[in-house]
Amino acid sequence: MTDTGKLKILVLISGNGSNLQAIIDSCQSGKISNGHVSQVISSKEGAFGLERAAKANIPTHVHKLQNYYKGIPKEEKEKRNQARELFNKELAEYILQPENKPDLIVCAGWMIILSPSFLNPLKEIPIINLHPALPGAFAGIKAIERAYEAGQKGEITKGGVMIHKVIAEVDEGDPLLVKELDLKKEETLEQYESRVHDIEHEAIVDGTIIALEKLVQ
Ligand code: GRF
Repeated sequence: MTDTGKLKILVLISGNGSNLQAIIDSCQSGKISNGHVSQVISSKEGAFGLERAAKANIPTHVHKLQNYYKGIPKEEKEKRNQARELFNKELAEYILQPENKPDLIVCAGWMIILSPSFLNPLKEIPIINLHPALPGAFAGIKAIERAYEAGQKGEITKGGVMIHKVIAEVDEGDPLLVKELDLKKEETLEQYESRVHDIEHEAIVDGTIIALEKLVQ
């Protein structure tokens, strides 16, 4: 909680940050009435989402996996896994520093798997994630494309997005909110993707509101 009496929302990003922008805008408009974005952490330097945060005077930090991999050849799988665990562990330590500690963590286009080395130290802090697929379908990367392809083959008729609790199993935590979309045979991937992004921007705000409400209950 900040001195403004608002809950602190830490947003994790890796890219454009359009979902981060939706949260920022909703905090400014009052749609999110009891929280504010206290910090943005990006896994990539130069992510446009960092510019969005800076424009909104939100502190930013970059936490790069590549820095942990430096000097470890790709073939050294075990050493890379250890480096990845250290990346997770130190990200949690950074977040838990008193000046950074949030009330809620929102993964908005964060593209690196968060392991138990990250999740366990943060057990007391709710972590939610936006995933552009329905519960139990298309966990992992390229979910939008995979859902679209399945629709084109007539295997499914519904796509959509969800906001879910982050657990060790990727994209499998309990959903807080699901928004469905009808898959249309006649549309292109780009058209479907555009509709997905539109409902993502609603879902990320509505999911953040739900998570904040749970904190004040
Ligand atoms: C979104 O499509 C999200 O579903 C996926 O990455 C994208 C993030 O977009 N994980 P942005 O960085 O919020 O614009």
